[in-house]
Amino acid sequence: MSRAAKFKAALAVDEMTERQARAEHKRLAEDIAHHDKLYHEKDAPEISDADYDKLRQRLKAIEERFPQLVDMFSPTQIVAPMPTTAFAKVKHARPMLSLDNAFAEEDLQAFLERVRRALERDIDLAKDAEIALACEPKIDGLSISLRYEDGELTVGATRGDGTTGEDVTANLRTVKDIPHTLKGRPPKAIDVRGEIYMERKAFQEMNRRQEEAGDKIFANPRNAAAGSLRQLDSSITAGRPLRFFAYAWGEAEPRTWKTHSDYLKVLKDWGFRVNPLSKLCRTAEQALAYYRKMGEERPSLPYDIDGVVYKVDRIDWQERLGFVSRAPRWAIAHKFPAEQARTRLNDILIQVGRTGALTPVADLEPVNVGGVMVARATLHNADEIERLDVRVGDMVIVQRAGDVIPQVLGYVPEERPRKTEKFHFPTHCPCPLKTKVASEEGGVVRRCSGGLECPFQQVERLRHFVSRNCFDIEGLGGTHIENFFNDGLLKVPGDIFRLTAHVDIIKKREGWGDLSARNLVAAIEARRTISLDRLINSIGIPLIGEATAKILAQEYGDADTWLAEMLAASRERKKHPDGVKKEKAAETVGPSYGRLCNVEQIGVTTADAMCTFFSEGHTVEIIRDLLKQLTVQPVERRVVAADAKLRDKIVVFTGELSTLTRDAAKAQAEELGAKVTDSVSKKTSLVVVGENAGSKARKAAELGVQTMTEEEWLKLVAG
Ligand code: IVH
Repeated sequence: MSRAAKFKAALAVDEMTERQARAEHKRLAEDIAHHDKLYHEKDAPEISDADYDKLRQRLKAIEERFPQLVDMFSPTQIVAPMPTTAFAKVKHARPMLSLDNAFAEEDLQAFLERVRRALERDIDLAKDAEIALACEPKIDGLSISLRYEDGELTVGATRGDGTTGEDVTANLRTVKDIPHTLKGRPPKAIDVRGEIYMERKAFQEMNRRQEEAGDKIFANPRNAAAGSLRQLDSSITAGRPLRFFAYAWGEAEPRTWKTHSDYLKVLKDWGFRVNPLSKLCRTAEQALAYYRKMGEERPSLPYDIDGVVYKVDRIDWQERLGFVSRAPRWAIAHKFPAEQARTRLNDILIQVGRTGALTPVADLEPVNVGGVMVARATLHNADEIERLDVRVGDMVIVQRAGDVIPQVLGYVPEERPRKTEKFHFPTHCPCPLKTKVASEEGGVVRRCSGGLECPFQQVERLRHFVSRNCFDIEGLGGTHIENFFNDGLLKVPGDIFRLTAHVDIIKKREGWGDLSARNLVAAIEARRTISLDRLINSIGIPLIGEATAKILAQEYGDADTWLAEMLAASRERKKHPDGVKKEKAAETVGPSYGRLCNVEQIGVTTADAMCTFFSEGHTVEIIRDLLKQLTVQPVERRVVAADAKLRDKIVVFTGELSTLTRDAAKAQAEELGAKVTDSVSKKTSLVVVGENAGSKARKAAELGVQTMTEEEWLKLVAG
């Protein structure tokens, strides 16, 4: 029997027991993965798109009835945009500490003196006793803790706030440098700690792929590593080039090593990568020589480092020294200055964003800044250029600091060419419409007033449209969009779906071939069916992002209702040019406007921005044209069952919850029919009080609102 037929004969979801549902869910997930593979990797689908959609719909229906079956491997999680805090919390057996920083060479001397004095208070330390330091590069990544019990990896967690992190075990298991089973004779229980990072080359390559596919690109290797680790779908993490160096421990029972340098050897025996540049230094001079050497080698290392870490090598001494607040007294990070370079400023370009905001960008003679070639740097805004007084032709200083995109710090006065001109921020947009530039937000933001007609904004909007959390069209990256737009193949979103008729033109274009053109068509066809929330997010309505798009979709349910309501609200608002109060919106302006204002997370400001957007005839035409090309899947309105346990109840969570993230708790409450709010008032029905709760818990007590602990909450949810 074919896979599709097998499912047709299956049981109705409403009649399933949980066991049946679990088995069916597993089967469907496997089937979908199988068809995805055939479709995407082999270009050889076995079933029609419609049958494939049915498999997905059935899986979704099962998950709606049995939400406990949703896990990160579910196909519904793979396409759905990911919630940001969906990981369980993990309390670290020992806190994950941070390090105090040293910036100058004297700071190392001061550190060693502090160490010596503290040790002398406790033990008989000879005046000239050496305090050996284990020195290591400080990797610019993110620290994690890996718990091994009887040599087996059990839990892997992020640092979080140092006490509690997020459980990212499944993702960490995909990192090749992390052993699942330790070699040799590891302790019964140990937390191995170290740094997850990405090599620069691999990061650039990954960003190139992301850009080509129209996906999110990351600002630097550290962000890329963090983003890759926090994926809900481990197969995405598996495809990211993450690496790991081990360098510390949390709990270790029993501990057999006596020095940090011994520990590094032991780590290697267990199968970890340890930074080969680590070195034991016996004097301050040696340690400083190490710091300088690392500073010199920094640009040629394959990964970013932002300093070196000095650690007192003897562990008995580390234990005597202990820690203050969140940092050990036995270690210090000696930071490098931010990486800088000088280069020529060839031009100042003005970039136009999706909403018309103009950003000045420095076009630089390409220069190597700490191992990365930099050709563009941000100049932020008109005020910043004024403050720096940089001019085209200047020799400028460019800085690349860990987190930020490269920036221009200033110019070198001695090297200013004779004839330079002060930069004047353009009064007209560089777009072909040359519209007048309008100032906003106290004059800091300048905006092109061309709106929908501005071709630069059009390109940016199309880019947004195909990006990952929107239509997610594989193979149609930012550069393709721009080229197609310039050649007249694309103007409005609907054109994307008409591209499929131009396969013959596309395959003859430079950089395209028969296969890539066919793949593009397949990728576009695959997105003709889209959920209402993604559609709303894709359109690029001012102030509406992914989360609000979802709420709107839940409120209006289907595309026709949604569009009709937006237009009605917009008409009502137009007839009513005065200021409006949210509570009175329906009465004073009209029912559709009132409904919009009262949607969660939307108030008068957002509603007004939406109304302005929908009052443009052209916008509506573009949306209607798009809708003709699509099948928009309705989103179910959140209907609260009559017997829902917390129907009509208003719940507030306060303090730190130890087993749940806030979002997970909120989802549980909503699942039971409750509305979750942030502040406690007389209307509040229940306050769930976590650890370290403050004023909200007090207020609940004052107002006589019912409270419960996290444990009681969990019982309520389960029972
Ligand atoms: S030791 C108690 N060693 O730096 C000792 N940290 O500012 C804990 N880091 O959160 C850290 N390379 O992410 C140590 N060789 C290294 C390191 C390192 C990078 C990071 C780590 C930590 C941060 C502290």
